[in-house]
Amino acid sequence: MSEQNNQPAELAIPGVADSIELPIYSGNIGPDVIDVGKLTSQGYFTYDPGFVSTASCESAITYIDGDEGTLLHRGYPIEQLADKSDYLELCYLLLNGELPGATAKAEFVHTIKNHTMVNEQLRTFFQGFRPDAHPMAIMCGVVGALSSFYHDSLDIDNPQHRMITAHRLIAKMPTLAAMSFKHAQGQPFIYPRNDLGYAENFLHMMFATPCEEYKVSPTLAKAMDRIFLLHADHEQNASTSTVRLAGSTGANPFASVAAGIAALWGPSHGGANEAVLTMLDEIGSVDNIPEYVRRAKDKNDPFRIMGFGHRVYKNYDPRAKVMQQTCHEVLEELGVQDNPVLAMAKELERIALEDEYFVEKRLYPNVDFYSGIILKAIGIPVEMFTVIFATGRTPGWIAHWCEMIGGNYKIGRPRQLYTGSPKRDFVDVADR
Ligand code: SDX
Repeated sequence: MSEQNNQPAELAIPGVADSIELPIYSGNIGPDVIDVGKLTSQGYFTYDPGFVSTASCESAITYIDGDEGTLLHRGYPIEQLADKSDYLELCYLLLNGELPGATAKAEFVHTIKNHTMVNEQLRTFFQGFRPDAHPMAIMCGVVGALSSFYHDSLDIDNPQHRMITAHRLIAKMPTLAAMSFKHAQGQPFIYPRNDLGYAENFLHMMFATPCEEYKVSPTLAKAMDRIFLLHADHEQNASTSTVRLAGSTGANPFASVAAGIAALWGPSHGGANEAVLTMLDEIGSVDNIPEYVRRAKDKNDPFRIMGFGHRVYKNYDPRAKVMQQTCHEVLEELGVQDNPVLAMAKELERIALEDEYFVEKRLYPNVDFYSGIILKAIGIPVEMFTVIFATGRTPGWIAHWCEMIGGNYKIGRPRQLYTGSPKRDFVDVADR
């Protein structure tokens, strides 16, 4: 919990006789915060476009230190979780705050397995989408529509309803994701199977057909589980903040997560993994990299190196390091370690990290830089990359939603700096 410091901040404003005392709060680790709530009564708003210096809430779920390149989930470093844990165990940790004992873990896995099917009527929703619909467009629609099947458990003030909804979302996202892929393929949907692990089940639903037995490679299932794990949560990023803002109005959790999916779709956020592969395809060869690095530094050129840079990390994104290691492992297991796309990505990273522009602006590879190369090696098509990100991020979204709704919260309602027209009288069209 936070606690108020003895010494408040003092804000001196020209023309305001007395300085304004603003409380300072400390968390357990990380920067203190200055509570500016009373500024409105003094006739002022704070101004922070993009919320670069704004803490929107108090949270105990994930901690990031951008300078150190640290990422903790409920205090556990992402490197240790990636090495020793698995995705469903991390889902439990994010939701409950502690790692599960063996019995609790087995019960959680059993619960998730028994919620992986979706209502048969949902299958008809997919018929309304063109075969070439982007799967993120489908996910925005069908996840929001899930709420129409659970009117019996949408009381957001009921902790049991919140937890069953969390389990349903974590369980059903892979099923819906695979359905959005199969729809585009014109292939029949494959039902989830309770004898398969979470990531194994997803890959089975993605690539199996009714025509023959399909065996998921344990290597690819492990890599898929690792990718879900690395995407599970990331503090108050744009899509999680969207889920919180939507949820703060009392909107149901399915609708709030659907809003998060929409926010994640953008190329500056979760759409970056798809954009990295598109960028590497456009660069085409290692010889062209210097020209593209030059373009990325040119203020007049909209080209940016996708998968590079981060609002918080001004050091290497710790997830990117694990992702790069996983990339080597998967490609080696698949016997494609001399993958030309990986070679290009590594050369692009080497050149960029030596370049003064990237060093001075502290731009490093982020979680999206290598993930797409692994996904492509697993056989996931590029247009499904952000759907994978959304599936992985679901426990983070719903854990933040549960933390907010289960605590004290207000409807989110920022203000603005108004630069429009002063008050003026209406002019009839005859007089304009
Ligand atoms: C994710 O918030 C999260 O936690 C997100 C995420 C999560 O898990 O939820 O980590 C997932 O979204 C990772 C980021 C994926 N996006 C990309 O890889 C797209 C490429 N990156 C950039 O668009 C950018 O770095 C952002 C959007 C990620 C961050 O933007 P900021 O913090 O607003 O920083 P900025 O755009 O102001 O950049 C600072 C400077 C600028 O130059 P100046 O105006 O100061 O001269 O760095 C430059 C930018 O032009 N810059 C880049 C660059 N990224 C920033 N220049 C070239 N290539 C880049 N990739």
